[in-house]
Amino acid sequence: MELKKFVSSIDYDVKLAKYDIFGSIAHTKMLAKCKIIPQSDAKKIINGLNSILKDFESGKIKFTGEDIHTSIETELKKRTGDVAGKMHTARSRNDQVLLAERLYLKDEIKIIVEKIDKAISVIKKVARKNLSVIMPGFTHLQNAQPVLFSHWFLSYGWMLKRDRERFLDCYKRVDVMPLGSAAFAGTEFPINRDFVAKELGFSKISESSVDTVSDRDFLIEFLFDCSLLSMHLSRFAEEIIIWSSQQFGFIKLSEQFTTGSSIMPQKKNPDFAELVRGKTGRIYGNLVSLLTVMKGLPLSYNRDMQEDKEPLFDSVETIKNMLDVSSGMINTVKINSEKMLSSCENGFIFATDIADYLTSKRMPFRTAHNIVGKIVNYCSKNKKSFNNLSIVEWKKFSAKFEKSVFDVLDFRKSVEKRKSNGGTSLSSVKQQLKKL
Ligand code: ARG
Repeated sequence: MELKKFVSSIDYDVKLAKYDIFGSIAHTKMLAKCKIIPQSDAKKIINGLNSILKDFESGKIKFTGEDIHTSIETELKKRTGDVAGKMHTARSRNDQVLLAERLYLKDEIKIIVEKIDKAISVIKKVARKNLSVIMPGFTHLQNAQPVLFSHWFLSYGWMLKRDRERFLDCYKRVDVMPLGSAAFAGTEFPINRDFVAKELGFSKISESSVDTVSDRDFLIEFLFDCSLLSMHLSRFAEEIIIWSSQQFGFIKLSEQFTTGSSIMPQKKNPDFAELVRGKTGRIYGNLVSLLTVMKGLPLSYNRDMQEDKEPLFDSVETIKNMLDVSSGMINTVKINSEKMLSSCENGFIFATDIADYLTSKRMPFRTAHNIVGKIVNYCSKNKKSFNNLSIVEWKKFSAKFEKSVFDVLDFRKSVEKRKSNGGTSLSSVKQQLKKL
């Protein structure tokens, strides 16, 4: 292998080109303003940087230096001559790389938050459209209690809302201007860091030059936020995969989000959902990767830190794609409300309702729970369901049972009774829909 290639990051940090140029323009303006370099030199440098940006964006130049920072400076030297060398006064690549990364990530967090908002809005749309559809709620993937589909589905909206808050909170730690830390000890030149912060739209400057160039917390935090978000999307995907199986048949994915099999002509596989689930692996990997890179580093900058970029870029691209695919899939999904309702018939889904029935007749809940357990056993043994027990049979288990017990065996009524805040009744779900 070529030794130069081993230390090079240009293949991927070229992604930071635009941000590196913005940073250098702001830095150069500051150098001139503080009379560290002459205005006329600054002008030449800034014009040069702008022309590089233009040519880069139209695909006219390809950078080939060790990293994007040196490549841009080399290109500037070609265009402006020795004056280019003044640009690097009072800074180091150590603070320069952080400036570019922070600018990049601020933009990307905004895009990610917009995509989360989009996902929340399609979840709400589907919930609203199927507001009163009833499905079996599960624990342990077994029928547990009837619930509104909208209630179940909106849970993912709440997860995403927390993700949104987490990214916005992380943004505060990203939004800190590092330049002026130089190699790690600051600089002897009379720079104005606040000016650079203002130029570039940062809300504050970093406080310690040593900490600044040593710190990758903001990236690790971001990678964690991506991990949690991807875990949520993965669980959602898992649900979609199960629900679209023949055994469940709760939903039908739009053709766009399924693929056929190369051998079985009847197949419509949920590959998109599976890949949302699968890509979660690399997102976790990226977090662990950077945590591991950082764990043994002495202060301040060490070249190990260059390894922060690939995990970062990969998580940014992957999470954006996962959000797009998830939103598209949700937006076009068809809900099979009959199948959901009929699936409530399986299992003794009214068991809790019956226990609650006895409890409201002043029986301790534990006793009621016990009695209903016995009824379930009796039904299983005699191949019966709650629906076809006679009142005589009910009374055998407790004298508290009256004919009104038959009213309990109604999905809609079961759902409607649960009017507690955050519960599954229609009014509670409408309430949470409003809050979300
Ligand atoms: N490409 C390097 C990185 O990403 C830039 C900083 C280089 N600094 C140094 N002292 N070699 O970390």
